[in-house]
Amino acid sequence: MNINGTPWRTIGLEAGGRSVWVIDQTLLPHRFETRSLSSVEDAAAAISTMVVRGAPLIGVTGAYGLMLALQVDPADGALAAAFEQLNATRPTAVNLRWALERVRERVTPLPEAERAAAARQEAGAIAAEDVAMCEAIGEHGLRLFQQLAAARPAERQGEPLNVLTHCNAGWLATVDWGTALAPIYKAHRAGLAIHVWVDETRPRNQGASLTAYELGKEGVPHTVIVDNAGGHLMQHGLVDAVIVGTDRTTRRGDVCNKIGTYLKALAAHDNGVPFYVALPASTIDWMIDDGVAEIPIEARSELEVTHIQGLAVQPGEAGQGAALTSVQLTPAGSAGFNPAFDVTPARLVTALITERGVAAASEAGLRGLYADR
Ligand code: MRU
Repeated sequence: MNINGTPWRTIGLEAGGRSVWVIDQTLLPHRFETRSLSSVEDAAAAISTMVVRGAPLIGVTGAYGLMLALQVDPADGALAAAFEQLNATRPTAVNLRWALERVRERVTPLPEAERAAAARQEAGAIAAEDVAMCEAIGEHGLRLFQQLAAARPAERQGEPLNVLTHCNAGWLATVDWGTALAPIYKAHRAGLAIHVWVDETRPRNQGASLTAYELGKEGVPHTVIVDNAGGHLMQHGLVDAVIVGTDRTTRRGDVCNKIGTYLKALAAHDNGVPFYVALPASTIDWMIDDGVAEIPIEARSELEVTHIQGLAVQPGEAGQGAALTSVQLTPAGSAGFNPAFDVTPARLVTALITERGVAAASEAGLRGLYADR
């Protein structure tokens, strides 16, 4: 997708494949900088500190991390250690384990001398497939949005379709296009009038900093709201649909996504607002049913709750040259607790939008699209 008219992706090879560049998402929206990852340690640190984040991008970064490890030492022991190191960085998004397993399966039968090149090829294939899957999600979601817009009463025809999203499930969370934002970009490019309510998404503010940034760069009309505003907007008919991504989807259609997603689903259910979840197949964990009981929820540092990062400017002041800074919100000594994800049960999900089409959030729905899995 575009930044100031230039097409970008979130990750790529550099130095003839000896290192990997990524966009440093901890600096957005205030500074745009790329960063080089030259070792498995760099890749693991980039994932755990959220230089890169978003389930699909975490998976691709993990795959390239294994490549970086194998370039140094292609032996079985080093492969196993790098796999464990990367897999431990973020426990909730299943794409990471999926991508690491895919690279490991590809390289394990090969002679050591061929492993790094094969890992590079497999990581590249995972990245390319992610782009294709996200674009296909966009096409299926676009049709759904067109139907929603057409079904509105005559007096609302021509008004923008108001879509609410939580966290960042745009191109910055994937390699390109995004999951939940792909249908929004497709709709905008197709000329469908659309406006996005962007949940700020405390504590890391992926909505306020990343979703707002990328929508702005693509020229999509949007408004940032505090996380608690969504229910109120729905009660007043200001939301036509909610669309979010997911970090892990169980085979019966329970959806684990950024903390606060569940509350949006409850509010949507109570107000008859459709609640869609967009996902590539790499996010489905076919091994589990019950998301609440079985998905490990990452607990991150309490400092993300007690402190907040931003640009050191007063409202109305220009941000030019201002420093990125962290401020404390809570009284010294107050404890913070920071579960990073929650699970929305399938019963609250109107439909799943995948690269293969739209399905009911149920085992039968998913099996209908993925009989081969
Ligand atoms: O903690 P993050 O920023 O990695 O969480 C990201 C999300 O929850 C996204 O909504 C998710 O990965 C699904 S779509 C790419």
